[in-house]
Amino acid sequence: MSKSKQCEAVRVVVRCRPFSRKEESQGCEDVLQIDDRLGQITIRNPKAPPDEPMKVFTFDSVYGWDSKQVDIYDDAVRPLVESVLKGFNGTTFAYGQTGTGKTHTMQGVSNDPEMRGIIPNSFQHIFTQISRTQNQKYLVRSSYMEIYQEEVRDLLCKDNNKKLELKENPDSGVYVRGLSSVVTKNATEIEHVMNIGNQSRSVGFTNMNERSSRSHAIFVITVECSEVGPDGEDHIRVGKLNMVDLAGSERQSKTGAKGKRLKEAAKINLSLSALGNVISALVNGKSTHIPYRDSKLTRLLQDSLGGNAKTVMIATVGPSHKDFEESLATLRYANRAKEIKNKPRINEDPKDALLREFQGEIARLKAQLEERGMLAKERRRIRNSKRLSQSLAGMEEEMLNERDADVWKAFVDEPVVRRHIKEGSDHPKVTLCQGSGERLKHLKDNRKSLVDMQWDPDALEKIIEKYKVHVEIKIQYSTV
Ligand SMILES: Nc1ncnc2c1ncn2[C@@H]1O[C@H](COP(=O)(O)OP(=O)(O)OP(=O)(O)O)[C@@H](O)[C@H]1O
Ligand SMILES: [Mg+2]
Repeated sequence: MSKSKQCEAVRVVVRCRPFSRKEESQGCEDVLQIDDRLGQITIRNPKAPPDEPMKVFTFDSVYGWDSKQVDIYDDAVRPLVESVLKGFNGTTFAYGQTGTGKTHTMQGVSNDPEMRGIIPNSFQHIFTQISRTQNQKYLVRSSYMEIYQEEVRDLLCKDNNKKLELKENPDSGVYVRGLSSVVTKNATEIEHVMNIGNQSRSVGFTNMNERSSRSHAIFVITVECSEVGPDGEDHIRVGKLNMVDLAGSERQSKTGAKGKRLKEAAKINLSLSALGNVISALVNGKSTHIPYRDSKLTRLLQDSLGGNAKTVMIATVGPSHKDFEESLATLRYANRAKEIKNKPRINEDPKDALLREFQGEIARLKAQLEERGMLAKERRRIRNSKRLSQSLAGMEEEMLNERDADVWKAFVDEPVVRRHIKEGSDHPKVTLCQGSGERLKHLKDNRKSLVDMQWDPDALEKIIEKYKVHVEIKIQYSTV
């Protein structure tokens, strides 16, 4: 890992949603004022006397009710994703009261280009950037999980009721054991992955939001990049982008949550207060213990809060006077988070880079293919050369038979042999006829050398030469 240990504050932005139809019909008052130029948001207590000063908060950016999805992406998230492509870990999370637009900001409406949220916008951005590079190889994979009632569930797994365990290792920090990871080659593929996961996400009706997120959802994109460094060696950088759509804080009196919804709300509020405690401990300056272990959410966000990641928090608020207290609480929470200092660093050549494993695997497969190709070539060569030698052997057989016939004729013409044949001996030839025996041996050697040569494809010429020799031999023999 890179040695750079420069501190960087968590970037905090605030987004205010427009009035809902219900709020409009109820004649709700607007208690928020946004100054996007100064990055200021002013909140007025609707119950306070008119002379009481309003509370002003300053953030890295503030976005009013008419802000566009693309503005939030370009301004708040694009630089974060650029960093992930360089090998940093990055996290963006939306925090706020229920019904204030966290899911709208993170997810939006994927099939409407203007309404697409941060998660789908990041897909297009990542793959466009990758397509523009020339000397790097990339591997992009994604995971999608939710923390529902303090249990981690894999949203990409068929059996998504399975509870996954959190583990920790010194190299990669906290991770989810057994979480699916899908390699994706383009924006369409990764979007498909997201849509599959969204179908499994826990949502439910409450009085504050028809489609209220009942879980914290985390979409993770891991980008591995391999590039040849000045040393001529292949170097791998790995950046991980966590995009977190938190469940909203809620009050039972407002949401009307009962039974299952109430149980969900209790767990949601518990983990959000654990997140608040971690933030407080981090900015306190005196805390020696940061209570990351108090919830699964804070454990998973450990690197993003006071760790080695770059982090962007998007706090969402509603404009209505009815939500004054919740909005003020969110702004205070967000204001505290501004003080969190991270030490982002590039993940260089991590041990667990999948790209390295894949490259190794590709090299192995290539070698295997090459070997197989060579073997197939060798087999073809052998087959051809066998065919050739078979036909040559046929020719040779014919030729040798002719020659043997000559030799045999010469042999049987020997007076001593002729005598033995007449006497009816079975094996008279070699034992008795020395001169002809030598000639027979020579004939066998010729035949053997031809057999040995059949595996050498370049030997055709030689075989033909040999054949010529045979002819010469034959001529010689025939003249004996
Ligand atoms: N900036 C916005 N512009 C237009 N509509 C918005 C905006 N923000 C939120 N909405 C609308 O408000 C409603 C609630 O938003 P959303 O579901 O995103 O809230 P949430 O913060 O995710 O709530 P929960 O915590 O319950 O999940 C949705 O109908 C959404 O379309
Ligand atoms: Mg939501």
